[in-house]
Amino acid sequence: MSNGAPISVLWPDPSPEPVDDDTLIARYGRAGQPHLRMNFVTSVDGAVSLDGYSAGLSGAPDKRVFGLLRMLCDALLVAAGTLRHEGYRAIRLDERRRAWRRSHGLTEYPTLVVVSGSLDLDPAQAAFADAPVRPVVLTRRDATAPPGLTRVADLVRHGEDRVDLVAGLADLRRRGLGQLLCEGGPHLFGALTAADLVDEVCLSIAPLLAGAGPGRITAGAPSPARHLPLRHVLRADDGTLLLRHARH
Ligand SMILES: NC(=O)c1ccc[n+]([C@@H]2O[C@H](COP(=O)([O-])OP(=O)(O)OC[C@H]3O[C@@H](n4cnc5c(N)ncnc54)[C@H](OP(=O)(O)O)[C@@H]3O)[C@@H](O)[C@H]2O)c1
Repeated sequence: MSNGAPISVLWPDPSPEPVDDDTLIARYGRAGQPHLRMNFVTSVDGAVSLDGYSAGLSGAPDKRVFGLLRMLCDALLVAAGTLRHEGYRAIRLDERRRAWRRSHGLTEYPTLVVVSGSLDLDPAQAAFADAPVRPVVLTRRDATAPPGLTRVADLVRHGEDRVDLVAGLADLRRRGLGQLLCEGGPHLFGALTAADLVDEVCLSIAPLLAGAGPGRITAGAPSPARHLPLRHVLRADDGTLLLRHARH
């Protein structure tokens, strides 16, 4: 598999030699049990965005890991806020990544799962309309779907006032979606942390000072701090650090 932007290992087993994709895949891997992995990029001073979008923080090394993590998951979880704001398109993987998935007994593409309480979603958005696998929308019991949404997505309903994330993730797992990758955004991350559902955080730190203004990668109501051990530190030539923290 192609190697892309050079990345080397700082810890553990430091080596200045760039690693190939197979080594990265082994380092990130798929867990042996149901697992929720978060993937975020931030600046050195902790910003969630630059000029309103994550793109300004994400260089080639972050994109390399971002793509590999998509290849490794059963389902890609994203909050409606990020889906709308970032204009999510359909999940696409190149033939080599689809072949990797087939050879590991996975479907060709992960399933997109959108978390939305309001169902203020556009069925014509490419994330739905062009999806290679029918997406799932995780929503509240009483939320009203806009015309056309059920034509392009399955609605899974849990919770009264808010989406019940504990019940929702358990439901996804019963559907065979055990390895979940969540690409945010901050309000969903805050709610998943509060519900103690986060098993892993993959964090790219871009060598940038964003300055005051942008929020953090987590948002919403406060919740107790939780220990999340460091598992690896990778470094890219452009100074990006790629951290992996996980419970196990
Ligand atoms: N740096 C990064 O890696 C990164 C990653 C992702 C996003 N971002 C940035 O984050 C910003 C968007 O953030 P956002 O404030 O819109 O937050 P968000 O977490 O992306 O979206 C919040 C929305 O998620 C839905 N939601 C449904 N149930 C929820 C629950 N139980 N808990 C939390 N959310 C729930 C709601 O959608 P409904 O309104 O439909 O009910 C809610 O309004 C953008 O600037 C984006 O660029 C950065």
